[in-house]
Amino acid sequence: TSTQVAVVGAGPAGLMLSHLLSLSGIDSVVIDLRERADIEATIRAGILEQGTVDLMTGTGVGERLLAEGQRHEGIAIRSRGESRRIDFPALTGRAVHLYPQHEVLKDLIAARLAAGGDVRFGVSDVSVHDVTTDTPAVRFTEADGTRVELSCAVIVGCDGSQGVTRTAIPAHARTDYFHAYPHGWFGILTEAPPSSEELVYAHSDRGFALISSRTPTVQRMYFQCDPAEDAAAWSDERVWAELRARVNGNGFELEEGPIIQRGVIPMRSYVVDPMRHGRLFLAGDAAHTVPPTGAKGLNLAAADIAVLCQALERFFHQGSADLLESYGRTASDRVWRAQHFSWWMTSMLHTDTDADAFGRRRQLGEIDQVTESVAGSTFLAEAYTGWPIAHTN
Ligand code: DHB
Repeated sequence: TSTQVAVVGAGPAGLMLSHLLSLSGIDSVVIDLRERADIEATIRAGILEQGTVDLMTGTGVGERLLAEGQRHEGIAIRSRGESRRIDFPALTGRAVHLYPQHEVLKDLIAARLAAGGDVRFGVSDVSVHDVTTDTPAVRFTEADGTRVELSCAVIVGCDGSQGVTRTAIPAHARTDYFHAYPHGWFGILTEAPPSSEELVYAHSDRGFALISSRTPTVQRMYFQCDPAEDAAAWSDERVWAELRARVNGNGFELEEGPIIQRGVIPMRSYVVDPMRHGRLFLAGDAAHTVPPTGAKGLNLAAADIAVLCQALERFFHQGSADLLESYGRTASDRVWRAQHFSWWMTSMLHTDTDADAFGRRRQLGEIDQVTESVAGSTFLAEAYTGWPIAHTN
């Protein structure tokens, strides 16, 4: 079997790439270890930057997003029991959409299959070969046990932070930047009405909490915890007591309900440099991980893909590899801004158990600077709604 672009991973990056390539008449095959049902049911983040929304609506996969997603024009930053709103359109002219990642994936999978795209779920034993030649290949075993050698012109690794493609760049040819945060997020889904029309990012003495939403009847909430915390050991009442203590007050009260899903999310930052090795290109979490604060993960993947797709169009349609050469440089500019933003939101809003009294008071000063000054809130709003996606042609 052969194709032009072999895409390893059917997450946001891989599916978006395959979708955009097909609109440009470039063939691809997407493979994933997981089954379609798993991919479509895994709960991840829910915020789409303006540029991600524009990319989806501009390429025919935004219908459900516009109908069922919610445009959010601001967030609240809550501290000392008081909420302060950041108004995105007033500060930047842009907004974000609340639309869960697994809904994005459902829409992309449906679009690929409707267009006759080749997406293979449930594969195993994936390996990449000959990436420093002009004839690389991906080998894998189909769900029915058939062994496949997929030859291609380019391999794109979109297989996330635990994938195989990242390690295909030899250690001597790459630099890994890694940072572990001393926090985790305890995430829940609850059957309850929304507590707030917009997301609430709450700083408190007991730690950070985030009140988000999924649908009118299902809410998503998180609170800072020890990364080694055992989510199963918490009773529902203990979870609600912790959330109440961090968020409620001065007329704000969480809407509570049964907890239908829970888990602890680690917080780490990772970047690999370069994002390519020969004919292998990395995109999304395969190339970089951000902590969840600020919801940049999916959006960074989409931005990588927008840049990489332009480079692949140039390569296949005009025979020039110049944009493939500059892909990593172009993409990493945004990656490092997002790393800074995610790290900064984390440090501003999370409680650091090592902080002294000075550190704790300084943090309140920072929150006041950001929420009460136009310059400070504009910085946050620009980053949150997303910087313009690079156009390289
Ligand atoms: C969500 C997650 C985030 O990390 C964030 O910053 C905002 C929202 C969410 O899951 O809804």
